[in-house]
Order: sequence, then C-alpha cells, then structure tokens
Amino acid sequence: MCKQLESDDSYTITTMKVERIYLLFYGISLISACVNAFDPVTTTVAMGIGATLGTIYKYFQESCTPKWIVFNATGLDVDLEKRLFGQHIATRIISKAVNGFLNNDNPKKPLVLSLHGWTGTGKNFVSKMIAENFYKEGMDSSFVHVFTSELHFPHASQIETYKSQLQQWIKGNVTNCPQSMFIFDEMDKMHPGLIDSIKPYLDYYDKLDGVSYRKAIFIFLSNAGGESITQTALEFWKAGRNREEIELADLENKLTLSVFNNKKSGLWHTSLIDKNLVDFFVPFLPLEYKHVVQCALAEMEARDLEPDMSVADQVARDLMYFPKSERVFSVTGCKTIVSKLDYYV
Ligand SMILES: Nc1ncnc2c1ncn2[C@@H]1O[C@H](COP(=O)(O)OP(=O)(O)OP(=O)(O)O)[C@@H](O)[C@H]1O
Ligand SMILES: [Mg+2]
Repeated sequence: MCKQLESDDSYTITTMKVERIYLLFYGISLISACVNAFDPVTTTVAMGIGATLGTIYKYFQESCTPKWIVFNATGLDVDLEKRLFGQHIATRIISKAVNGFLNNDNPKKPLVLSLHGWTGTGKNFVSKMIAENFYKEGMDSSFVHVFTSELHFPHASQIETYKSQLQQWIKGNVTNCPQSMFIFDEMDKMHPGLIDSIKPYLDYYDKLDGVSYRKAIFIFLSNAGGESITQTALEFWKAGRNREEIELADLENKLTLSVFNNKKSGLWHTSLIDKNLVDFFVPFLPLEYKHVVQCALAEMEARDLEPDMSVADQVARDLMYFPKSERVFSVTGCKTIVSKLDYYV
C-alpha cells in the first residue's frame, strides 16, 4: 500500500527535471574529480558546477517552509465566492474555519472538516481550492495526501495491515511537515476500524510519541447525509422560499442524525462525531439548473472559449433532474459538465 500512497506524492515535473540534471552534473563532476585528480583547476571548476546545480536544485525542491506553504486568505475567499456555485453555507463555513485555523499560531488540535452532500456538488473542488491557497504546489504538493477508501483500502481482510500503515504514513508525514493535509475521500465507504485508527491524531493532544499533529488539516468527504440535505432543499423550494434562506441550523440536526443512523456508514460506528473530533460539518446543497449553466460557462472560460449561453443551456438541458415530478436538482450535479462540453464545442 505504501507504494500506492507514495505515488500520490509525486514530485512536480520541474523538480524531477532539475533533480535529474543535478544528478547528471554531480556525477560528471565526481568522475572528472577522479580522472583529473592531478588537475586541480578542472577539479575545482567541476565541483563548482556541481555545487551551483545543487543550490539550484534546492531552490526548486519543495520544502516545508513559508516559501512553499503560505496561506492566501484573499485567494481562498475569492475562489469560494466566484468559482463555487450554489453553496452559500459551505462557502461561509469553509472560509471561517480555514481562516480561523490558519491564522492561529497555536491551534489546540488539527483542523477536521467533514464535507457532506450529493454527488457533483463541489466537495473535491473545495478541497482543491483549500490546497491551492495554502500550498504553492496545490494538490501536487508533497504535503497533500489523498486517500480513497476503495483504492487504498480495498480489502476488509487486510484492515489490520492498513491500520498500521496508515498510522505510520500520517506520523511520518506530519513529522516531516507539521502543516500536512490529509484528504479522505469516500469516507462513508471506509472501514470503521480504519477511521478509529486515525482518531488519536484528530484529538486535543499536545504531542503523541513526540509528534504534534496540531497544525495538520484533515478533510473527510462523503455522500452521507446527502439525502437529508436534499430533502430540506426541496422543502424550501416547494414552499417557494429562496435557497439562500437555508441556514446551517436547518440542516445540521438532520445531517448528524442521518449520518448517525446510517448503519452502513463508517462514520456512524466511530466516535468521531460524539467525541467532537470533527470541528465542522459542511453541507453541500444539490445543484439546480441555473448552477449547471454557471458550471458550463465557467468551464468554457477555463478553456479560453467565448462563453456561449446557448451551449451552456443545451448542456444543462441534457442532464437528468430529480425528483421525477419537479425536476429541480441535477442528478450528477456539475460532475459531467467537462465531458458534455467536449461533445458540444
Ligand atoms: N458547486 C460547484 N460550483 C462550481 N463547480 C462545481 C460545483 N460542484 C461541482 N463542480 C464542478 O464539477 C466537478 C466535479 O465536482 P466534485 O468532484 O467536487 O464533486 P463531489 O461533490 O466531490 O462529488 P462526489 O460526491 O461524486 O465525489 C468539479 O471539478 C467542478 O468543476
Ligand atoms: Mg468527490
């Protein structure tokens, strides 16, 4: 499994290239140092080149320093406001939570966010925004680690192995860089034992085995609670109320109840919730037709295409909506927009 995990943490292409060039020149300088053992001038020049390339390499190599890890609060707020559609509650909570945590020099525990909602509503999208506004390398940073239950922990029979590997992985990475970010996707499909094994790292400990986890960020993504969030959004819609009137309080009780009551959900079995280890539950509302249109226009812009309302409308019209009678919410959210757009433009 560690191999799989390592592959997630790949170097950037730039860094790899510089690394290779450096190794090549370092090799050359070593060889020439040996061959020209009696020619001090050549040896000095070769060693000089090696040293210079070493400095260049270090300059491009990502490190756990403010040069590579610096929080861009304005950037995150602008991204949430301008690029995330139809999620006024998530926008507010994420902005507050991340700003509060990253502006605190001495947090008492790591930041733990649990993002819930229907498919294609922006959970991974928001995680990416957080990473991009904290790490210069964004999701490619070697300090951002993504785990997907079915990819990294597929076999229930190997749960004990996964547990110890995951614990070692988290410990090793936080030791290497306290400001590490761990994203657990498909959290609702994760084995309860595995969630239990990461619990100590989320808690209010000063240090565990000499390592402090208080500057790390854990983000859990799941569809758990998506139906209850959708139910509330539909009730507002049926009552002719504005979607923006929905408040966290309207969703929170139902959300935690549905997560608790879902016996299949890994979250339910663990004491993540009752021990208050999750700092913020973040609900994602199901997306409507108008949001899908916005997603299509944004995608055109991202491709440097002239935003075309008629194409965006066509893309949105092609999607399926539910419930069957009212057809209010997109079944796949904005998830299939990218491929649909390929078809139309
Ligand atoms: N609310 C949104 N605003 C803008 N774009 C969105 C939004 N939701 C989804 N998208 C677009 O759709 C893509 C897929 O969304 P994303 O992967 O974040 O969905 P998800 O909530 O993680 O879904 P799932 O539960 O299926 O994993 C995003 O990369 C983004 O381009
Ligand atoms: Mg997702």
